[in-house]
Amino acid sequence: MKRLQRLRYSKNLRDLTSEVGFSIGQLIQPLFVVEGLTRDEEIPGLGGVKRHSKDSLIKQIGTDLEMGVRQFILFQVPAKKMDSGFSYKFSDDVISQVKKKYGDSITLWVDTCLCSLTTHGHCCVLHDNGKQNLESTLLEISNLAKSYAEAGADGVSPSDMNDGRVYQIRQALDSSPVGLRHIPIMSYSTKFSSHFYGPFRNAADSAPQFGDRATYQIDVRNRTDAINSSIRCAQEGADLLMVKPGMTSIDLIQPIADKTRLQVGAYQVSGEYAALTLLNEKGLIKFDAALLETWQVFKRAGAQFIITYGARLAQSLGVTP
Ligand code: PBG
Repeated sequence: MKRLQRLRYSKNLRDLTSEVGFSIGQLIQPLFVVEGLTRDEEIPGLGGVKRHSKDSLIKQIGTDLEMGVRQFILFQVPAKKMDSGFSYKFSDDVISQVKKKYGDSITLWVDTCLCSLTTHGHCCVLHDNGKQNLESTLLEISNLAKSYAEAGADGVSPSDMNDGRVYQIRQALDSSPVGLRHIPIMSYSTKFSSHFYGPFRNAADSAPQFGDRATYQIDVRNRTDAINSSIRCAQEGADLLMVKPGMTSIDLIQPIADKTRLQVGAYQVSGEYAALTLLNEKGLIKFDAALLETWQVFKRAGAQFIITYGARLAQSLGVTP
Protein backbone atom coordinates (compact mmCIF):
# COMPACT_ATOMS: atom_id res chain seq x y z
CA MET A 1 0.00 0.00 0.00
CA LYS A 2 1.17 3.50 -0.81
CA ARG A 3 1.81 5.22 2.53
CA LEU A 4 1.90 9.01 2.12
CA GLN A 5 2.41 9.38 5.85
CA ARG A 6 5.92 7.95 5.68
CA LEU A 7 7.35 11.30 4.57
CA ARG A 8 5.47 13.21 7.28
CA TYR A 9 6.93 11.24 10.13
CA SER A 10 9.61 13.64 11.39
CA LYS A 11 10.27 17.34 11.21
CA ASN A 12 13.41 16.67 9.19
CA LEU A 13 11.45 14.68 6.62
CA ARG A 14 8.77 17.37 6.45
CA ASP A 15 11.48 20.01 5.91
CA LEU A 16 13.11 17.83 3.26
CA THR A 17 9.88 17.56 1.31
CA SER A 18 8.61 21.10 1.81
CA GLU A 19 8.22 23.00 -1.44
CA VAL A 20 7.49 26.43 -0.09
CA GLY A 21 10.17 28.80 1.07
CA PHE A 22 10.23 32.56 1.33
CA SER A 23 11.99 35.37 3.11
CA ILE A 24 10.97 38.62 4.78
CA GLY A 25 12.15 40.32 1.59
CA GLN A 26 8.97 39.08 -0.08
CA LEU A 27 6.62 40.50 2.54
CA ILE A 28 5.27 44.04 2.28
CA GLN A 29 4.11 45.96 5.36
CA PRO A 30 1.20 48.41 4.90
CA LEU A 31 1.50 51.77 6.69
CA PHE A 32 -1.08 54.51 7.25
CA VAL A 33 -0.16 58.14 7.70
CA VAL A 34 -2.81 60.74 8.39
CA GLU A 35 -2.19 64.35 7.45
CA GLY A 36 -2.32 66.63 10.48
CA LEU A 37 -2.64 63.81 13.03
CA THR A 38 -0.82 64.50 16.29
CA ARG A 39 -1.35 61.25 18.17
CA ASP A 40 -1.38 57.71 16.77
CA GLU A 41 -4.67 55.88 16.57
CA GLU A 42 -5.26 52.14 16.83
CA ILE A 43 -7.12 50.55 13.93
CA PRO A 44 -9.83 48.21 15.25
CA GLY A 45 -9.09 44.61 14.26
CA LEU A 46 -5.59 45.16 12.93
CA GLY A 47 -3.73 44.24 16.10
CA GLY A 48 -1.25 47.04 16.66
CA VAL A 49 -1.19 48.46 13.11
CA LYS A 50 -1.82 52.18 13.53
CA ARG A 51 -2.85 55.41 11.87
CA HIS A 52 0.34 57.38 12.26
CA SER A 53 1.38 60.99 12.44
CA LYS A 54 4.33 61.80 10.21
CA ASP A 55 6.87 61.63 13.03
CA SER A 56 5.61 58.38 14.45
CA LEU A 57 5.46 56.87 10.96
CA ILE A 58 9.14 57.64 10.51
CA LYS A 59 9.91 55.99 13.88
CA GLN A 60 7.75 52.98 13.05
CA ILE A 61 9.67 52.36 9.85
CA GLY A 62 12.89 52.39 11.86
CA THR A 63 11.50 49.73 14.22
CA ASP A 64 10.23 47.68 11.30
CA LEU A 65 13.64 47.82 9.63
CA GLU A 66 15.15 46.39 12.79
CA MET A 67 12.63 43.55 12.49
CA GLY A 68 13.92 42.85 9.00
CA VAL A 69 11.08 44.43 7.00
CA ARG A 70 12.31 46.19 3.86
CA GLN A 71 9.18 46.57 1.76
CA PHE A 72 6.40 48.99 2.67
CA ILE A 73 3.21 50.17 1.05
CA LEU A 74 2.10 53.60 2.20
CA PHE A 75 -1.48 54.84 2.43
CA GLN A 76 -1.74 58.58 2.85
CA VAL A 77 -4.95 59.87 4.38
CA PRO A 78 -5.59 63.56 3.67
CA ALA A 79 -6.75 66.13 6.21
CA LYS A 80 -9.37 67.47 3.85
CA LYS A 81 -11.47 65.80 1.17
CA MET A 82 -11.92 67.23 -2.28
CA ASP A 83 -14.70 67.27 -4.88
CA SER A 84 -14.26 66.39 -8.53
CA GLY A 85 -11.81 68.32 -10.62
CA PHE A 86 -9.11 68.56 -7.99
CA SER A 87 -5.45 67.89 -7.87
CA TYR A 88 -4.61 66.91 -4.35
CA LYS A 89 -1.26 67.88 -2.93
CA PHE A 90 -0.32 66.42 0.43
CA SER A 91 1.15 69.24 2.45
CA ASP A 92 3.40 67.33 4.79
CA ASP A 93 5.92 65.79 2.49
CA VAL A 94 5.90 62.34 4.07
CA ILE A 95 7.35 60.42 1.15
CA SER A 96 10.42 62.57 0.67
CA GLN A 97 11.13 62.70 4.40
CA VAL A 98 10.88 58.94 4.76
CA LYS A 99 13.17 58.41 1.80
CA LYS A 100 15.60 61.07 3.03
CA LYS A 101 15.91 59.22 6.32
CA TYR A 102 16.01 55.61 5.12
CA GLY A 103 17.20 55.88 1.52
CA ASP A 104 17.65 52.62 -0.32
CA SER A 105 17.47 50.49 2.82
CA ILE A 106 13.71 50.44 2.24
CA THR A 107 11.49 50.11 -0.80
CA LEU A 108 8.53 52.42 -0.48
CA TRP A 109 5.49 51.63 -2.62
CA VAL A 110 2.74 54.23 -2.52
CA ASP A 111 -0.89 53.24 -2.93
CA THR A 112 -2.41 55.42 -5.61
CA CYS A 113 -6.16 55.93 -5.52
CA LEU A 114 -8.79 58.63 -5.09
CA CYS A 115 -11.19 57.06 -2.58
CA SER A 116 -9.70 58.55 0.56
CA LEU A 117 -9.25 61.92 -1.18
CA THR A 118 -12.79 62.46 -2.45
CA THR A 119 -15.82 63.67 -0.49
CA HIS A 120 -17.89 60.82 -1.96
CA GLY A 121 -15.34 58.11 -1.21
CA HIS A 122 -15.32 56.56 -4.69
CA CYS A 123 -12.10 55.63 -6.47
CA CYS A 124 -12.86 57.97 -9.37
CA VAL A 125 -13.99 61.44 -10.35
CA LEU A 126 -17.74 61.58 -10.94
CA HIS A 127 -19.80 63.51 -13.47
CA ASP A 128 -22.67 65.60 -12.09
CA ASN A 129 -25.00 62.74 -12.99
CA GLY A 130 -23.11 60.46 -10.61
CA LYS A 131 -21.43 58.44 -13.38
CA GLN A 132 -17.72 57.88 -13.52
CA ASN A 133 -15.73 60.53 -15.39
CA LEU A 134 -13.00 58.28 -16.72
CA GLU A 135 -10.94 60.94 -18.46
CA SER A 136 -10.62 63.14 -15.37
CA THR A 137 -10.10 60.09 -13.19
CA LEU A 138 -7.14 58.90 -15.22
CA LEU A 139 -5.65 62.36 -15.26
CA GLU A 140 -5.91 62.72 -11.48
CA ILE A 141 -4.55 59.25 -10.80
CA SER A 142 -1.62 59.60 -13.15
CA ASN A 143 -0.81 63.04 -11.70
CA LEU A 144 -0.83 61.57 -8.20
CA ALA A 145 1.41 58.71 -9.26
CA LYS A 146 3.85 61.12 -10.85
CA SER A 147 3.91 63.36 -7.78
CA TYR A 148 4.58 60.37 -5.49
CA ALA A 149 7.42 59.22 -7.71
CA GLU A 150 8.85 62.73 -7.87
CA ALA A 151 8.77 62.86 -4.08
CA GLY A 152 10.88 59.70 -3.96
CA ALA A 153 8.47 56.74 -3.96
CA ASP A 154 10.26 53.63 -5.20
CA GLY A 155 7.13 52.32 -6.87
CA VAL A 156 3.47 53.18 -7.33
CA SER A 157 0.49 50.92 -6.74
CA PRO A 158 -2.77 51.90 -8.39
CA SER A 159 -5.63 50.34 -6.42
CA ASP A 160 -8.56 51.96 -8.18
CA MET A 161 -9.45 49.41 -10.92
CA ASN A 162 -10.32 52.08 -13.48
CA ASP A 163 -9.80 51.01 -17.09
CA GLY A 164 -6.63 52.38 -18.57
CA ARG A 165 -4.93 53.69 -15.47
CA VAL A 166 -1.78 51.62 -15.71
CA TYR A 167 -1.19 52.82 -19.27
CA GLN A 168 -1.71 56.44 -18.34
CA ILE A 169 0.48 56.21 -15.24
CA ARG A 170 3.26 54.65 -17.33
CA GLN A 171 2.96 57.49 -19.84
CA ALA A 172 3.07 60.09 -17.07
CA LEU A 173 6.15 58.53 -15.47
CA ASP A 174 7.95 58.03 -18.76
CA SER A 175 7.36 61.57 -19.94
CA SER A 176 8.52 63.21 -16.71
CA PRO A 177 11.54 65.44 -17.28
CA VAL A 178 13.02 64.41 -13.93
CA GLY A 179 13.60 60.80 -15.03
CA LEU A 180 11.00 58.35 -13.71
CA ARG A 181 11.25 55.61 -16.30
CA HIS A 182 12.75 53.27 -13.73
CA ILE A 183 9.75 53.45 -11.36
CA PRO A 184 7.82 50.16 -11.35
CA ILE A 185 4.04 49.86 -11.26
CA MET A 186 2.69 47.21 -8.90
CA SER A 187 -0.90 47.04 -10.01
CA TYR A 188 -3.83 45.90 -7.93
CA SER A 189 -4.74 44.06 -11.08
CA THR A 190 -7.36 41.55 -9.90
CA LYS A 191 -9.27 43.40 -7.23
CA PHE A 192 -12.69 42.21 -6.24
CA SER A 193 -15.63 44.13 -4.90
CA SER A 194 -15.40 42.65 -1.42
CA HIS A 195 -16.72 42.87 2.10
CA PHE A 196 -13.28 42.15 3.52
CA TYR A 197 -12.02 45.75 3.23
CA GLY A 198 -13.97 46.97 6.28
CA PRO A 199 -11.16 47.69 8.77
CA PHE A 200 -9.12 49.39 6.04
CA ARG A 201 -11.91 51.76 5.12
CA ASN A 202 -12.04 52.94 8.73
CA ALA A 203 -8.27 53.40 8.72
CA ALA A 204 -8.16 55.25 5.39
CA ASP A 205 -11.51 56.99 5.90
CA SER A 206 -12.43 55.84 2.42
CA ALA A 207 -15.84 54.19 2.62
CA PRO A 208 -18.12 55.23 -0.26
CA GLN A 209 -20.74 57.74 0.97
CA PHE A 210 -23.36 56.28 -1.38
CA GLY A 211 -23.60 53.11 -3.43
CA ASP A 212 -20.72 50.66 -3.54
CA ARG A 213 -17.74 49.83 -5.72
CA ALA A 214 -19.46 47.09 -7.71
CA THR A 215 -19.47 49.18 -10.92
CA TYR A 216 -15.67 49.26 -11.08
CA GLN A 217 -14.32 46.41 -8.92
CA ILE A 218 -14.67 42.78 -10.03
CA ASP A 219 -17.67 40.60 -9.16
CA VAL A 220 -16.44 37.60 -7.12
CA ARG A 221 -18.45 35.26 -9.33
CA ASN A 222 -16.64 36.29 -12.50
CA ARG A 223 -13.45 34.30 -13.02
CA THR A 224 -13.08 35.46 -16.65
CA ASP A 225 -13.10 39.13 -15.67
CA ALA A 226 -10.70 38.37 -12.81
CA ILE A 227 -8.13 36.92 -15.20
CA ASN A 228 -8.76 39.43 -18.00
CA SER A 229 -8.26 42.36 -15.61
CA SER A 230 -4.76 41.18 -14.81
CA ILE A 231 -3.98 40.44 -18.46
CA ARG A 232 -5.13 43.95 -19.29
CA CYS A 233 -2.83 45.48 -16.63
CA ALA A 234 0.06 43.42 -17.97
CA GLN A 235 -0.62 44.70 -21.51
CA GLU A 236 -0.80 48.27 -20.24
CA GLY A 237 2.66 47.93 -18.78
CA ALA A 238 2.30 46.79 -15.16
CA ASP A 239 5.52 45.33 -13.74
CA LEU A 240 3.92 43.33 -10.92
CA LEU A 241 0.38 42.03 -10.52
CA MET A 242 -1.71 41.29 -7.47
CA VAL A 243 -4.86 39.50 -6.38
CA LYS A 244 -7.01 40.99 -3.65
CA PRO A 245 -8.46 39.93 -1.24
CA GLY A 246 -5.67 37.39 -1.18
CA MET A 247 -7.20 34.59 0.84
CA THR A 248 -10.36 34.44 -1.24
CA SER A 249 -8.43 34.62 -4.53
CA ILE A 250 -5.74 31.97 -4.23
CA ASP A 251 -7.27 29.98 -7.08
CA LEU A 252 -6.44 32.83 -9.47
CA ILE A 253 -2.76 33.39 -8.72
CA GLN A 254 -1.30 30.60 -10.86
CA PRO A 255 -3.63 31.07 -13.85
CA ILE A 256 -2.78 34.79 -13.94
CA ALA A 257 0.95 34.11 -13.67
CA ASP A 258 0.71 31.51 -16.46
CA LYS A 259 -1.26 33.77 -18.77
CA THR A 260 0.77 36.95 -18.25
CA ARG A 261 4.23 35.53 -17.51
CA LEU A 262 4.42 38.19 -14.76
CA GLN A 263 4.84 37.66 -11.05
CA VAL A 264 1.66 37.85 -9.01
CA GLY A 265 1.40 38.87 -5.36
CA ALA A 266 -1.41 38.44 -2.86
CA TYR A 267 -2.81 41.13 -0.58
CA GLN A 268 -4.01 39.63 2.70
CA VAL A 269 -6.55 42.38 3.25
CA SER A 270 -7.67 44.05 6.45
CA GLY A 271 -10.79 41.92 6.98
CA GLU A 272 -8.82 38.72 6.46
CA TYR A 273 -6.12 39.80 8.88
CA ALA A 274 -8.70 41.05 11.39
CA ALA A 275 -10.42 37.65 11.26
CA LEU A 276 -7.21 36.11 12.58
CA THR A 277 -6.72 38.72 15.30
CA LEU A 278 -10.34 38.33 16.46
CA LEU A 279 -10.12 34.51 16.53
CA ASN A 280 -7.01 34.97 18.59
CA GLU A 281 -8.73 37.35 21.00
CA LYS A 282 -11.40 34.73 21.55
CA GLY A 283 -8.75 32.13 22.28
CA LEU A 284 -9.77 30.08 19.24
CA ILE A 285 -6.46 29.94 17.38
CA LYS A 286 -2.75 30.33 17.96
CA PHE A 287 -2.28 33.58 16.11
CA ASP A 288 1.39 33.27 15.13
CA ALA A 289 1.06 29.77 13.77
CA ALA A 290 -2.16 30.57 11.95
CA LEU A 291 -0.68 33.68 10.35
CA LEU A 292 2.37 31.77 9.16
CA GLU A 293 0.07 29.10 7.75
CA THR A 294 -1.78 31.67 5.63
CA TRP A 295 1.52 32.95 4.18
CA GLN A 296 2.65 29.42 3.39
CA VAL A 297 -0.62 28.83 1.57
CA PHE A 298 -0.11 32.01 -0.49
CA LYS A 299 3.33 30.76 -1.49
CA ARG A 300 2.00 27.28 -2.28
CA ALA A 301 -0.63 28.89 -4.49
CA GLY A 302 2.12 30.62 -6.44
CA ALA A 303 2.24 34.09 -4.91
CA GLN A 304 5.59 35.81 -5.44
CA PHE A 305 5.06 38.41 -2.71
CA ILE A 306 2.56 38.98 0.09
CA ILE A 307 1.19 42.26 1.39
CA THR A 308 0.26 41.58 5.00
CA TYR A 309 -0.39 43.66 8.11
CA GLY A 310 1.76 41.12 9.97
CA ALA A 311 4.98 41.55 7.97
CA ARG A 312 6.69 43.08 10.97
CA LEU A 313 5.99 39.88 12.96
CA ALA A 314 7.69 37.65 10.39
CA GLN A 315 11.04 37.48 12.14
CA SER A 316 9.41 36.35 15.37
CA LEU A 317 7.54 33.66 13.40
CA GLY A 318 10.84 32.28 12.17
CA VAL A 319 10.60 33.49 8.57
CA THR A 320 14.04 33.65 6.93
CA PRO A 321 15.46 37.19 6.99
C1 PBG B 1 -8.28 51.76 -2.01
C2 PBG B 1 -7.82 50.51 -1.36
C3 PBG B 1 -8.58 49.58 -0.61
C4 PBG B 1 -7.67 48.66 -0.09
C5 PBG B 1 -6.41 49.01 -0.56
N1 PBG B 1 -6.52 50.15 -1.36
C6 PBG B 1 -10.01 49.51 -0.24
C7 PBG B 1 -11.12 49.58 -1.18
O1 PBG B 1 -11.02 49.26 -2.37
O2 PBG B 1 -12.17 49.97 -0.69
C8 PBG B 1 -8.05 47.54 0.83
C9 PBG B 1 -6.98 47.05 1.71
C10 PBG B 1 -7.44 46.25 2.88
O3 PBG B 1 -8.63 45.99 3.13
O4 PBG B 1 -6.54 45.86 3.63
N2 PBG B 1 -8.79 51.68 -3.26
